[in-house]
Amino acid sequence: MSSSPPPAANLAGHLDPAGNLPRHVGIIMDGNGRWANAQGLPREVGHERGADSVRTVVRAARELGIEALTLFAFSSQNWDRPPQEVFHLMALLRRYLIEERGEILDNDIRLVTVGETHRLPAYVREPMVELIEASATHSRMTLCLALSYGGREMITDAVRRIAQEVVDGALEVDAITPDVVSQHIESSRILPPLDLLIRTSGERRISNFFLWEAAYAELFFTETLWPDFNRENLLEALADYSRRERRFGLTSAQVEASLQEEV
Ligand code: FPP
Repeated sequence: MSSSPPPAANLAGHLDPAGNLPRHVGIIMDGNGRWANAQGLPREVGHERGADSVRTVVRAARELGIEALTLFAFSSQNWDRPPQEVFHLMALLRRYLIEERGEILDNDIRLVTVGETHRLPAYVREPMVELIEASATHSRMTLCLALSYGGREMITDAVRRIAQEVVDGALEVDAITPDVVSQHIESSRILPPLDLLIRTSGERRISNFFLWEAAYAELFFTETLWPDFNRENLLEALADYSRRERRFGLTSAQVEASLQEEV
């Protein structure tokens, strides 16, 4: 049987022939509460230590050459936590945006957000929007904060807008392809394909994070609680990722041939 050319379209945007570094890493930062509980401290302290890990990991990702890092900082469902915890998380976000402004701007990092950010209080939105605008042309790394974010919510929103375009006669039903759907999901439109999804704290769930984007992401679960997660833990996840073979539904031989074509 003659071997047909590999369907390289499956691989578009994913392969990195020069090395095995993921272009886009997403992190479900879990375990702040359990970390605090284990030390006999209030949950809020766990979130504060979690914010320190955010600083460490953003710096490490930039130094290592990761193109995009998305941190799941607050889910659509987190609004239902006790009001004082929600307030504390919002205050922490504001503090992070103000205190890290210099670090983000000095290091050529572009800040973006995904999620229903209009639901955030003005005291978070204002420094957030200011920093998004001030860093808009930066290109060393994209830091994406998923805020008031839910994967189902984002897909639902995309479905609604696609349906409206069909109703308006701007889009044919038969023209709705996965690419068209991706174009209606903000995170897929503005970020590189998700390559590696890390979840801390031993839980093995996606919990309504990048549902669409995770289709071909490699998953890495670690027992480490988020406040303890550091540069070494990130390196461990990246090393694990570099040993994986990503096939995107193809055979090993096809993937190998595509890689040869790219170099
Ligand atoms: C999950 O841990 C974590 C969160 C709901 C919030 C994540 C927030 C931070 C890491 C700090 C602020 C973020 C930034 C970007 C400055 P959990 O509380 O559900 O932990 P548990 O499962 O052990 O209770």
